Amino acid sequence: MRQRLSLDRTWRFALGHAADVGRDFGYARTRSLVKAGEDRGAASPAFDDSHWRTVNLPHDWAIELPLDPKGNKELCEHGFRAVGPDHPENSVGWYRRAFKIPQSDLGRRISIEFDGVFRDSVVWINGHRLGRHESGYTSFRYDLTDYLNYGARNVIAVRVDASMYEGWWYEGAGIYRHVWLLKTDPIHVAPNGTFITSRITPAGAVVSIRTTVMNESNDAVTLDLRSDIQGARSARSKVRLAPWQQREITQRIRIKRPNLWSPDAPNLYRLETTLRRGSGILDQYATPFGIRTLRWDAKRGFFLNGKPLKIKGTCNHQNHAGVGTAMPDRLHELRIEKLKELGSNAYRCSHYAATPELLDACDRLGMLVVAENRLAGSSPQILGDFAGMIRRDRNHPSIFLWSIGNEEHTIQWSKAGERIGRTMVRTAHQLDRTRKVTAAMHDRGLKEGFAEIVDVHGWNYIKVGDIEAFHARRPDQPILGSEEASTLCTRGVYADDATRGYVSAYDQRTPKWGSTAQAWWTFFAGRPWLAGAFLWTGFDYRGEPIPYQWPCTGSHFGIMDACGFPKDNYFYYQSWWSERIVLHLLPHWNWPRREGQPIDVRCFSNCDQVELLLNGNSFGRSAMRRNSHLAWQVPYQPGTLEARGFRDGRQVAVAKVETTGVPAAIMLEPDRNALGADGNDLASVTVRVVDEKGRTVPTADNQISFDVSGAGHLLGVGNGDPSSHECDKHPQRRAFNGLCLALIQSNERPGRIILSARSEGLIESKLILRGTQRTPASGASHRARRLR
Ligand code: GAL
Repeated sequence: MRQRLSLDRTWRFALGHAADVGRDFGYARTRSLVKAGEDRGAASPAFDDSHWRTVNLPHDWAIELPLDPKGNKELCEHGFRAVGPDHPENSVGWYRRAFKIPQSDLGRRISIEFDGVFRDSVVWINGHRLGRHESGYTSFRYDLTDYLNYGARNVIAVRVDASMYEGWWYEGAGIYRHVWLLKTDPIHVAPNGTFITSRITPAGAVVSIRTTVMNESNDAVTLDLRSDIQGARSARSKVRLAPWQQREITQRIRIKRPNLWSPDAPNLYRLETTLRRGSGILDQYATPFGIRTLRWDAKRGFFLNGKPLKIKGTCNHQNHAGVGTAMPDRLHELRIEKLKELGSNAYRCSHYAATPELLDACDRLGMLVVAENRLAGSSPQILGDFAGMIRRDRNHPSIFLWSIGNEEHTIQWSKAGERIGRTMVRTAHQLDRTRKVTAAMHDRGLKEGFAEIVDVHGWNYIKVGDIEAFHARRPDQPILGSEEASTLCTRGVYADDATRGYVSAYDQRTPKWGSTAQAWWTFFAGRPWLAGAFLWTGFDYRGEPIPYQWPCTGSHFGIMDACGFPKDNYFYYQSWWSERIVLHLLPHWNWPRREGQPIDVRCFSNCDQVELLLNGNSFGRSAMRRNSHLAWQVPYQPGTLEARGFRDGRQVAVAKVETTGVPAAIMLEPDRNALGADGNDLASVTVRVVDEKGRTVPTADNQISFDVSGAGHLLGVGNGDPSSHECDKHPQRRAFNGLCLALIQSNERPGRIILSARSEGLIESKLILRGTQRTPASGASHRARRLR
């Protein structure tokens, strides 16, 4: 029977030195590859790592490193963390993990799976070099069966070399995704060996299941393969396999009245695969899937389940406050929840293969996904990364489009690019006929290259090139805005400040290729031939501090900051993307010494009319135009600024901003009170600095100290300030415009988790969370068992 065990806990970790063999733990001596199993230094099982630190995965060592203010342009793009080509002393990390394999496992197939290691890793088992994997974004596995010591100790060693960049954003460093040990019978279903597709017919859905069965034994076998879908008839097949043969079996199951998957109703089915020999079960596991139809129309956009659906999407990096790239599963899920609340229905994994748990969250919560490849190319290795992503991810109903790459400007417009792209598109179609293929391109005429060979044209930025002319020239090609906006805003800041590195949060400023939220969305909303678009970005991330450089180290593009706190533009999109009633006023109303001076007041809302009042005095009602906003110049007076929202003449909403008093206390607001006691689950706690009436002080920057006791620990902190140089791993953080964040992670034992927050001169606050055995309802908890 199959067992998938988490190998996330208790690795030994130390930084090596890319340019110094002595401190790269003998790596040079392991590079001769003369005799099997004789690798030395930290690769050898005999190496003493007792003085190394213990870390749990996911782990990003870059987040702990100091910043380099002297960094060049590349380092600036990467957020000034002292890792990469200019910092060999911080760019190699070693991980080691000892584990026991029982004698009873002899005869089973055992492999190790890495969901993502940044980057260029070499892996050894018991001193045997298993291989090298360069990409920091794709999954890989090694078969350990032959190498293991059964009934004894085994040691995995991983050398991770982050000296080179793969992108132009903060990329982290280390084993920043999960690691698994997979044990199966020698006769089993192949890795990623299930592929489920469906077709809707008048008689219901026909689900096709392709299962690749492997016989890794010396006997010819006859097997029974059974596929069960709850509420439908099961399919059974006899499978005959010669020794060491593998075969793909296709089965079909009809579901009479299928519950279709969509962002509004993310109905999932569960396929259970069982492989038997006689009465003995050899392999058994479940694969979630969804049934839906995808159609692209060059004139009318994208259709899901036969109905037009405008794509209201966000692009995002795997990066969050407090953790860098090492995001626990719940954080992926929480971010998708926040994007759903916004009214977004699609997520572009820019610009690399996603972590599997993110895709699981998108399936469960209802978020369409563009799954994107990192580096475009058709050589076996590069194409292998792309094909590996498709094989791994093609059962996710959320994925509706494969992207071969982003802004590959040296090839996307060339004849060579056309050939490379054609090979990539053909590969995607061979592996998956159900989805179309795109590339995210920025225009330069687009007369040859990727534009010739993709199914759906991915257009990055209407400000770059003439999309209308392109459409006129190619009226039969569907077009999606693969990237838009890049609007620059800092949360809670209402005037540009180049010295500190802040951009005003009014929807005003963009780099030359970008657009304001209102400009690009109005453009797309008004053109049915545009299938919709993905704004850059849902969340701020480290790196790309455009329009600034040092001291600014983080991006301003997010409609939420790096902690997930909404900026004002969030409410513009929520007004026009979601079904809920939205009424939001900006700026805040704390402007000492500005009495009598006009303040630029704006309102984002989807009400028909909005009335603005200052201290009870009305400025009258104004009509809201679709996809627009309202603005007033209001002479400042402390007090209450109020908006009343009307629909069909009836008041349906009120929003207020009030002049607050000085900071008086700390308030702690967790996203949930109970978390799974599995060492991975977490609570995201919003920390507010409030006045004596409990109102968030919008300019407060008090330094808050945290202490966590009981069955949990502080995983990290943040405040959304793109110029903060504080460490995300220290138990303190300055509030930024009234807010900061504490991420609390469970330990492996259930019990109370107590978070206290203190700051000089403020009333302190305590929060009690519960680590429970049961997984909280909304939680994406780590359900797999751990390997001791
Ligand atoms: C785009 C690019 C993104 C990001 C963005 C910033 O051109 O695809 O990765 O760099 O610009 O505006």
